[in-house]
Amino acid sequence: MMTLSKSVSHIGAKNPSHFANGTAPTLIELRAHPKSIEIQQYLSNKLTAKRYRHVLSVQEMAVDLARCHKADVWKASLAALLHDCAKWMDAQQLYRTAARYDIELHPVEQVTPALLHAIVGVKLAVEKFAVTDLEVLEAIRNHTTGSASMGVMSQVLYVADFAESTRTHKAVHVVRKLAYTHLEEAVHYVARAKIEHLLQKETMIHPNTLHTYNSTLVDN
Ligand SMILES: [Fe+2]
Ligand SMILES: [Fe+2]
Repeated sequence: MMTLSKSVSHIGAKNPSHFANGTAPTLIELRAHPKSIEIQQYLSNKLTAKRYRHVLSVQEMAVDLARCHKADVWKASLAALLHDCAKWMDAQQLYRTAARYDIELHPVEQVTPALLHAIVGVKLAVEKFAVTDLEVLEAIRNHTTGSASMGVMSQVLYVADFAESTRTHKAVHVVRKLAYTHLEEAVHYVARAKIEHLLQKETMIHPNTLHTYNSTLVDN
């Protein structure tokens, strides 16, 4: 039987997530892959223990969701592991890094440093971990605000980030229930909960959050 590590020669290469006998790797096997170990070591050094627990919990839910919706579990695992890889940076570091990469920021991003970790995280994933897969990079990019047209990988990460088992928002129960049967509806509820939260705080709402809400409302 081909091992997972042998099947993944390059992170941007074709679907590596199936063993020769056609079964997808388990969470334990995904975490034992050398690339996962490299990322996990980086994250456990850089992130707080609470944030690192969140990342592993997002990974667990994202892999479950990917399996359920017939998406690539290796990519889901990778995107989940890397989604908060820039979360250890403070606002100044995030803005400095964005400037270094010549990232053009939306006016809402210019005043909301919390949104930058997704954008800078994409750059770290490429530069530090040699990730080239567009589905994975898009999922990392979209995990906070969503976007008007999210593929299944972005939807899986967007929902898992919101509803993983350590989360306690009031909308998590409905999102967890919907996520396995009606993924797009789950995305809609996440966007709605985020908009409600931002309205309560009277802070700016990124247009992509509204696009996520609108684009999933049409199909409800
Ligand atoms: Fe995040
Ligand atoms: Fe997160």
